Amino acid sequence: MDKHPLVVGNWKMELSHRSAVEVTSAMKKIIQDNTYAADIVVCPSFPSLFAVADGMKNTQIAVGAQNVHHEEKGAHTGSVSVGQLREFISWCIVGHSEVRASQGDTDLEIANKAKLLLSHGIRPIVCIGETREQHDRGETIAVISTQIDVLLSNLDRVSLLKTVIAYEPIWAIGTGTLPDPNEVYEVLLLIRKRIAEKFDIELADRVHLLYGGSVQADNVSSYIAGPGADGVLVGGASIHPRDFIDIVSRVSEKYAL
Ligand code: PGA
Repeated sequence: MDKHPLVVGNWKMELSHRSAVEVTSAMKKIIQDNTYAADIVVCPSFPSLFAVADGMKNTQIAVGAQNVHHEEKGAHTGSVSVGQLREFISWCIVGHSEVRASQGDTDLEIANKAKLLLSHGIRPIVCIGETREQHDRGETIAVISTQIDVLLSNLDRVSLLKTVIAYEPIWAIGTGTLPDPNEVYEVLLLIRKRIAEKFDIELADRVHLLYGGSVQADNVSSYIAGPGADGVLVGGASIHPRDFIDIVSRVSEKYAL
């Protein structure tokens, strides 16, 4: 299969502009003499997008945004549009649980953001996941089914091929609490099953699925082994150049086998 694994770093609001530039230089230095089997993306905050994109030019690291407004244009104070982003980025995270929580994005709005990004040639990374309470009540499969079905009803085959779906149990984000890899496989399998039912098995197999939540170099292998994810979405560890590239190396090694 010609599917490259993918490692995405979500820098959140953790770095000053100066630190973002320093992290960019440090990552470049670490990767310069290596070629990785994984595709690599980092997602800085809006004010640092230009500098990071410029710094990462001609490297193996692509740049993405952490969110986008759902409309193309208009009186939306404090927001950033796809048109403003498109010259700097090739990827964009949408539906991250932190954005869902603070801005109230619905599954439909998230699907629409994905469509908007795709129409501008930007690949969306759509995050889905259940809360701790939903997990403990045994509702994970129901919650994920709803989230994925809204996305699948709004994207066509070609769009879906360019879309990355990241399963992030909300209770695993930034907590150091890791889910049982078998539970993660079950969710990833469910997502592929839903795609196969709506489209076909070939597409289900080709769509990129990521795992995210407290990923580090020493635990990443459990989530990408066997029927696991096609890569990972990394938060906390992604602002530490050595840690992040260690994760990239682990993912690359697995796929080089
Ligand atoms: P974490 O964040 O790796 O710090 O848990 C993951 C994410 O929010 O995407």
